[in-house]
Amino acid sequence: MNMIEAMAARHSVRSYTDAPIEGEVLEALAASIAEINKASGLAVELAPDGGKAFDNLLGHYGKFRGVRGLFVLKGRRSKDLGLRAGYWGERLVLEATALGLGTCWVGGTYSKRSVAVGPGEELVCVVTVGYAAAPGRPHRTKPIEAFVPGGIADKPAWFVSGVEAAMLAPTALNQQKFSFALDGNVVDARVSGLGVLTDVDLGIARLHFELGAGAEAFVWKHA
Ligand SMILES: Cc1cc2nc3c(=O)[nH]c(=O)nc-3n(C[C@H](O)[C@H](O)[C@H](O)COP(=O)(O)O)c2cc1C
Repeated sequence: MNMIEAMAARHSVRSYTDAPIEGEVLEALAASIAEINKASGLAVELAPDGGKAFDNLLGHYGKFRGVRGLFVLKGRRSKDLGLRAGYWGERLVLEATALGLGTCWVGGTYSKRSVAVGPGEELVCVVTVGYAAAPGRPHRTKPIEAFVPGGIADKPAWFVSGVEAAMLAPTALNQQKFSFALDGNVVDARVSGLGVLTDVDLGIARLHFELGAGAEAFVWKHA
């Protein structure tokens, strides 16, 4: 499964079997995390038994079952920490999907105190990871016009592919508050209005757009 296929195959999984992540799958994840931390400056960690953060009222409220593994997305405090956690965290999510694992981004419904964070580090959010007991389903999405001011009629095919890939992206509460504007080959990605974790959502949507459009087709207005 390549990253394009992984974007289409990924749906949030909130119910897991008790099969541990081990062997080659664990090695592949550890290698991805090392690469991602090197490229991003983040301090992403796999907590194989991080599921205890869901073993409380909040976790049950969030309808999670059998959570064992967590990706802990954290790094040094900076203005763009949420955006980077979204972009690189979703890269890890897609790699996990390609390895046959289920995932779910989690901003709220877990105990932050149960997650280890080093001095000077800020926790952005976690992603549950493990073998799915119940598969996820495709999310409802707004129509493509909702993401492109002025519509797509005059837009090149690569741009439309990028927006379509972003429509597959997970967003907090499925809020899908992002939009993309095109000027020449410059793409301006924004989040509109108020919402929760919209900077993380924007990072995730930007990765999907890049994968769908092809990174060589355009440049971002804001790096
Ligand atoms: C930043 C972020 C935070 C999220 N937080 C939660 C959460 O606290 N609890 C939860 O059950 N799902 C959470 N989700 C999952 C979204 O509800 C889910 O991605 C969205 O409904 C779209 O569904 P899909 O991921 O299956 O495509 C979060 C997703 C993102 C991107």
